[in-house]
Amino acid sequence: MACAPTRVRELGMFSSLSIPSRRHHSRPWSGPGESRRQRVISIRKGSFVGDTTVISYEYRDDEGRGPASDQPGEPNGRPDYEAWLAELMPLLHDGDPVLDLGCGCGVPATALLAERCAVTGIDLSPVQIARARHWYQRRNFQRADMSTLEFPSHRFAAVVSFYAIIHVPLDEQPAIFKNIHRWLRPGGHVLATVGSDPWTGVEDDWHGAPMYWSHADRATYIAWLEETGFTVLWSRFIPEGAGGHTLIFAKTG
Ligand SMILES: C[S@@+](CC[C@H](N)C(=O)[O-])C[C@H]1O[C@@H](n2cnc3c(N)ncnc32)[C@H](O)[C@@H]1O
Repeated sequence: MACAPTRVRELGMFSSLSIPSRRHHSRPWSGPGESRRQRVISIRKGSFVGDTTVISYEYRDDEGRGPASDQPGEPNGRPDYEAWLAELMPLLHDGDPVLDLGCGCGVPATALLAERCAVTGIDLSPVQIARARHWYQRRNFQRADMSTLEFPSHRFAAVVSFYAIIHVPLDEQPAIFKNIHRWLRPGGHVLATVGSDPWTGVEDDWHGAPMYWSHADRATYIAWLEETGFTVLWSRFIPEGAGGHTLIFAKTG
Protein backbone atom coordinates (compact mmCIF):
# COMPACT_ATOMS: atom_id res chain seq x y z
CA MET A 1 0.00 0.00 0.00
CA ALA A 2 2.80 2.38 -0.85
CA CYS A 3 0.33 4.59 -2.70
CA ALA A 4 -2.40 4.00 -0.17
CA PRO A 5 -3.53 7.65 0.11
CA THR A 6 -4.91 7.17 -3.39
CA ARG A 7 -6.56 4.03 -2.24
CA VAL A 8 -8.33 5.71 0.65
CA ARG A 9 -9.61 8.38 -1.70
CA GLU A 10 -10.77 5.73 -4.16
CA LEU A 11 -12.62 3.84 -1.46
CA GLY A 12 -14.37 7.02 -0.41
CA MET A 13 -16.21 7.81 2.81
CA PHE A 14 -19.47 6.29 3.95
CA SER A 15 -20.58 8.52 6.75
CA SER A 16 -24.24 8.23 5.81
CA LEU A 17 -24.22 4.47 5.37
CA SER A 18 -27.21 2.80 7.00
CA ILE A 19 -26.71 -0.20 9.26
CA PRO A 20 -26.42 -3.16 6.93
CA SER A 21 -28.31 -6.37 7.42
CA ARG A 22 -26.92 -9.62 6.19
CA ARG A 23 -30.30 -10.33 4.60
CA HIS A 24 -29.76 -7.43 2.22
CA HIS A 25 -26.57 -8.35 0.46
CA SER A 26 -27.24 -9.29 -3.13
CA ARG A 27 -23.86 -8.82 -4.78
CA PRO A 28 -21.53 -11.62 -3.74
CA TRP A 29 -18.48 -9.55 -4.64
CA SER A 30 -18.97 -6.52 -2.51
CA GLY A 31 -20.34 -5.04 0.67
CA PRO A 32 -22.51 -1.91 0.71
CA GLY A 33 -20.64 1.03 -0.70
CA GLU A 34 -18.08 -1.15 -2.42
CA SER A 35 -17.96 -1.23 -6.20
CA ARG A 36 -16.46 -4.08 -8.17
CA ARG A 37 -13.52 -1.80 -9.01
CA GLN A 38 -12.97 -1.02 -5.34
CA ARG A 39 -12.92 -4.69 -4.49
CA VAL A 40 -10.31 -5.32 -7.17
CA ILE A 41 -8.24 -2.53 -5.63
CA SER A 42 -8.68 -4.10 -2.20
CA ILE A 43 -7.55 -7.53 -3.38
CA ARG A 44 -4.55 -6.11 -5.21
CA LYS A 45 -3.56 -4.03 -2.22
CA GLY A 46 -4.23 -6.97 0.01
CA SER A 47 -6.66 -6.18 2.77
CA PHE A 48 -9.96 -7.34 4.22
CA VAL A 49 -11.62 -8.26 0.93
CA GLY A 50 -14.72 -9.91 -0.38
CA ASP A 51 -18.25 -9.56 0.85
CA THR A 52 -17.64 -7.55 3.97
CA THR A 53 -21.30 -7.74 4.98
CA VAL A 54 -21.31 -11.52 5.07
CA ILE A 55 -17.98 -11.67 6.84
CA SER A 56 -18.87 -8.96 9.32
CA TYR A 57 -21.96 -10.73 10.63
CA GLU A 58 -20.56 -14.22 10.40
CA TYR A 59 -17.44 -13.17 12.27
CA ARG A 60 -19.13 -11.26 15.11
CA ASP A 61 -22.84 -10.97 15.73
CA ASP A 62 -24.33 -7.94 17.46
CA GLU A 63 -23.52 -9.44 20.85
CA GLY A 64 -19.91 -10.00 19.85
CA ARG A 65 -20.25 -13.77 19.53
CA GLY A 66 -18.23 -15.58 16.91
CA PRO A 67 -18.50 -18.74 14.82
CA ALA A 68 -18.03 -21.85 16.94
CA SER A 69 -15.75 -23.34 14.27
CA ASP A 70 -13.03 -20.77 15.06
CA GLN A 71 -12.93 -21.26 18.81
CA PRO A 72 -14.58 -24.62 19.62
CA GLY A 73 -13.71 -24.50 23.31
CA GLU A 74 -14.92 -20.95 23.96
CA PRO A 75 -18.52 -20.36 25.12
CA ASN A 76 -19.00 -17.31 22.88
CA GLY A 77 -17.31 -18.85 19.83
CA ARG A 78 -14.58 -16.21 19.97
CA PRO A 79 -11.37 -15.62 21.87
CA ASP A 80 -11.36 -14.48 25.47
CA TYR A 81 -10.85 -10.76 24.82
CA GLU A 82 -11.93 -10.08 28.39
CA ALA A 83 -8.97 -12.02 29.76
CA TRP A 84 -6.56 -10.34 27.35
CA LEU A 85 -7.78 -6.85 28.18
CA ALA A 86 -7.72 -7.63 31.88
CA GLU A 87 -3.94 -7.61 31.56
CA LEU A 88 -3.89 -4.22 29.86
CA MET A 89 -6.61 -2.35 31.76
CA PRO A 90 -4.84 -2.15 35.15
CA LEU A 91 -2.05 -0.26 33.38
CA LEU A 92 -4.46 2.43 32.17
CA HIS A 93 -6.19 5.31 33.92
CA ASP A 94 -9.87 6.15 33.50
CA GLY A 95 -10.34 8.22 30.36
CA ASP A 96 -6.98 7.33 28.83
CA PRO A 97 -6.94 7.55 25.02
CA VAL A 98 -6.73 4.11 23.43
CA LEU A 99 -6.65 3.18 19.74
CA ASP A 100 -8.26 0.00 18.39
CA LEU A 101 -6.73 -0.64 14.94
CA GLY A 102 -8.99 -2.80 12.79
CA CYS A 103 -11.73 -2.54 15.39
CA GLY A 104 -14.26 -4.47 13.35
CA CYS A 105 -17.90 -3.96 14.35
CA GLY A 106 -16.95 -2.67 17.80
CA VAL A 107 -17.86 -5.73 19.82
CA PRO A 108 -16.54 -7.13 21.96
CA ALA A 109 -13.08 -5.52 22.24
CA THR A 110 -13.77 -1.85 21.52
CA ALA A 111 -16.82 -1.93 23.76
CA LEU A 112 -14.85 -3.42 26.62
CA LEU A 113 -12.19 -0.72 26.27
CA ALA A 114 -14.83 2.00 26.06
CA GLU A 115 -16.10 1.09 29.52
CA ARG A 116 -13.08 2.90 30.99
CA CYS A 117 -11.13 4.57 28.20
CA ALA A 118 -11.60 7.15 25.46
CA VAL A 119 -11.34 4.68 22.62
CA THR A 120 -10.86 5.49 18.94
CA GLY A 121 -11.78 2.71 16.51
CA ILE A 122 -10.32 2.49 13.01
CA ASP A 123 -11.38 0.04 10.35
CA LEU A 124 -11.10 -0.20 6.59
CA SER A 125 -14.53 -1.74 6.11
CA PRO A 126 -17.58 0.53 5.78
CA VAL A 127 -19.79 -2.25 7.10
CA GLN A 128 -17.72 -2.70 10.22
CA ILE A 129 -17.57 1.03 10.92
CA ALA A 130 -21.30 1.45 10.32
CA ARG A 131 -22.04 -1.31 12.81
CA ALA A 132 -19.60 0.11 15.36
CA ARG A 133 -21.08 3.61 15.04
CA HIS A 134 -24.51 2.18 15.66
CA TRP A 135 -23.48 1.14 19.16
CA TYR A 136 -21.11 3.90 20.25
CA GLN A 137 -20.38 7.56 19.77
CA ARG A 138 -20.08 8.03 16.02
CA ARG A 139 -17.19 10.41 16.22
CA ASN A 140 -15.02 7.76 17.87
CA PHE A 141 -14.99 5.57 14.76
CA GLN A 142 -13.27 6.34 11.50
CA ARG A 143 -13.06 4.43 8.29
CA ALA A 144 -9.38 4.42 7.37
CA ASP A 145 -6.52 2.26 6.21
CA MET A 146 -4.13 1.58 9.06
CA SER A 147 -1.23 1.68 6.60
CA THR A 148 -1.81 5.34 5.83
CA LEU A 149 -3.24 6.53 9.10
CA GLU A 150 -1.84 9.68 10.73
CA PHE A 151 -1.98 10.63 14.39
CA PRO A 152 0.12 13.10 16.39
CA SER A 153 3.06 11.64 18.29
CA HIS A 154 2.34 10.43 21.84
CA ARG A 155 -1.42 10.55 21.23
CA PHE A 156 -2.38 7.23 22.88
CA ALA A 157 -1.78 5.45 26.16
CA ALA A 158 -2.33 2.09 24.47
CA VAL A 159 -2.97 0.59 21.05
CA VAL A 160 -4.77 -2.71 20.53
CA SER A 161 -5.17 -4.54 17.25
CA PHE A 162 -6.89 -7.91 17.25
CA TYR A 163 -6.75 -10.11 14.13
CA ALA A 164 -6.31 -7.09 11.84
CA ILE A 165 -2.63 -6.35 11.08
CA ILE A 166 -2.43 -9.88 9.65
CA HIS A 167 -4.73 -8.77 6.79
CA VAL A 168 -2.26 -6.09 5.64
CA PRO A 169 0.53 -7.06 3.22
CA LEU A 170 3.59 -8.18 5.14
CA ASP A 171 5.95 -5.61 3.66
CA GLU A 172 3.75 -2.83 5.09
CA GLN A 173 3.57 -4.20 8.61
CA PRO A 174 6.94 -2.99 10.00
CA ALA A 175 5.91 0.58 9.20
CA ILE A 176 2.64 0.07 11.09
CA PHE A 177 4.58 -0.95 14.21
CA LYS A 178 6.82 2.10 13.81
CA ASN A 179 3.74 4.33 13.64
CA ILE A 180 2.20 2.64 16.67
CA HIS A 181 5.42 3.29 18.58
CA ARG A 182 5.34 6.96 17.57
CA TRP A 183 1.65 7.36 18.47
CA LEU A 184 2.16 5.89 21.93
CA ARG A 185 3.11 7.92 24.94
CA PRO A 186 6.39 6.96 26.61
CA GLY A 187 5.64 3.79 28.55
CA GLY A 188 2.55 3.11 26.41
CA HIS A 189 1.47 -0.43 25.57
CA VAL A 190 0.55 -2.33 22.43
CA LEU A 191 -1.49 -5.55 22.52
CA ALA A 192 -1.82 -7.14 19.09
CA THR A 193 -2.58 -10.34 17.24
CA VAL A 194 0.23 -11.20 14.85
CA GLY A 195 1.27 -14.33 12.98
CA SER A 196 2.48 -17.57 14.44
CA ASP A 197 3.71 -19.15 11.20
CA PRO A 198 4.52 -17.38 7.95
CA TRP A 199 1.79 -17.39 5.29
CA THR A 200 0.44 -15.03 2.66
CA GLY A 201 -2.53 -15.93 0.51
CA VAL A 202 -6.27 -15.83 -0.01
CA GLU A 203 -8.67 -18.27 1.57
CA ASP A 204 -11.52 -18.62 -0.94
CA ASP A 205 -14.35 -19.11 1.53
CA TRP A 206 -13.71 -17.64 4.94
CA HIS A 207 -17.06 -17.14 6.64
CA GLY A 208 -18.71 -16.76 3.25
CA ALA A 209 -16.23 -14.69 1.25
CA PRO A 210 -12.60 -14.66 0.14
CA MET A 211 -10.14 -13.39 2.71
CA TYR A 212 -6.56 -12.21 2.34
CA TRP A 213 -3.97 -13.00 5.01
CA SER A 214 -0.33 -12.02 5.29
CA HIS A 215 1.82 -12.79 8.27
CA ALA A 216 5.31 -13.72 9.37
CA ASP A 217 6.24 -16.03 12.23
CA ARG A 218 6.36 -15.08 15.87
CA ALA A 219 10.14 -14.57 15.98
CA THR A 220 9.95 -12.07 13.12
CA TYR A 221 7.32 -9.99 14.89
CA ILE A 222 9.32 -9.98 18.10
CA ALA A 223 12.37 -8.82 16.14
CA TRP A 224 10.40 -6.08 14.36
CA LEU A 225 9.00 -4.79 17.65
CA GLU A 226 12.37 -4.80 19.37
CA GLU A 227 14.04 -3.07 16.41
CA THR A 228 11.30 -0.44 16.61
CA GLY A 229 12.07 0.28 20.26
CA PHE A 230 9.46 -1.83 22.04
CA THR A 231 10.17 -4.09 24.97
CA VAL A 232 8.23 -7.30 24.42
CA LEU A 233 6.58 -8.27 27.72
CA TRP A 234 5.14 -11.58 26.55
CA SER A 235 3.84 -13.42 23.51
CA ARG A 236 1.37 -16.32 23.50
CA PHE A 237 0.01 -18.81 21.00
CA ILE A 238 -3.74 -18.37 20.54
CA PRO A 239 -5.30 -21.38 18.81
CA GLU A 240 -7.86 -20.94 16.03
CA GLY A 241 -9.31 -23.91 14.22
CA ALA A 242 -6.42 -26.11 13.11
CA GLY A 243 -3.91 -23.27 13.40
CA GLY A 244 -3.49 -20.16 15.45
CA HIS A 245 -1.87 -16.79 15.95
CA THR A 246 0.41 -15.00 18.35
CA LEU A 247 -0.88 -12.46 20.84
CA ILE A 248 1.92 -10.08 21.68
CA PHE A 249 2.13 -7.52 24.48
CA ALA A 250 4.84 -4.86 24.43
CA LYS A 251 5.62 -1.43 25.82
CA THR A 252 7.59 1.49 24.51
CA GLY A 253 11.00 2.04 25.97
C1 LIG B 1 -10.84 -10.44 11.52
S1 LIG B 1 -11.46 -8.82 11.72
C2 LIG B 1 -11.13 -8.46 13.45
C3 LIG B 1 -12.04 -7.38 13.98
C4 LIG B 1 -11.87 -7.07 15.48
N1 LIG B 1 -10.56 -6.54 15.76
C5 LIG B 1 -12.13 -8.30 16.31
O1 LIG B 1 -11.17 -8.86 16.87
O2 LIG B 1 -13.30 -8.72 16.41
C6 LIG B 1 -10.22 -7.86 10.90
C7 LIG B 1 -10.60 -6.41 10.75
O3 LIG B 1 -9.49 -5.67 10.24
C8 LIG B 1 -9.96 -4.74 9.30
N2 LIG B 1 -8.86 -4.35 8.40
C9 LIG B 1 -8.23 -5.13 7.48
N3 LIG B 1 -7.28 -4.43 6.84
C10 LIG B 1 -7.31 -3.19 7.37
C11 LIG B 1 -6.58 -1.99 7.11
N4 LIG B 1 -5.63 -1.96 6.17
N5 LIG B 1 -6.87 -0.88 7.83
C12 LIG B 1 -7.85 -0.92 8.78
N6 LIG B 1 -8.58 -2.02 9.06
C13 LIG B 1 -8.32 -3.14 8.37
C14 LIG B 1 -11.08 -5.46 8.60
O4 LIG B 1 -11.96 -4.61 7.93
C15 LIG B 1 -11.72 -6.20 9.75
O5 LIG B 1 -12.77 -5.47 10.35
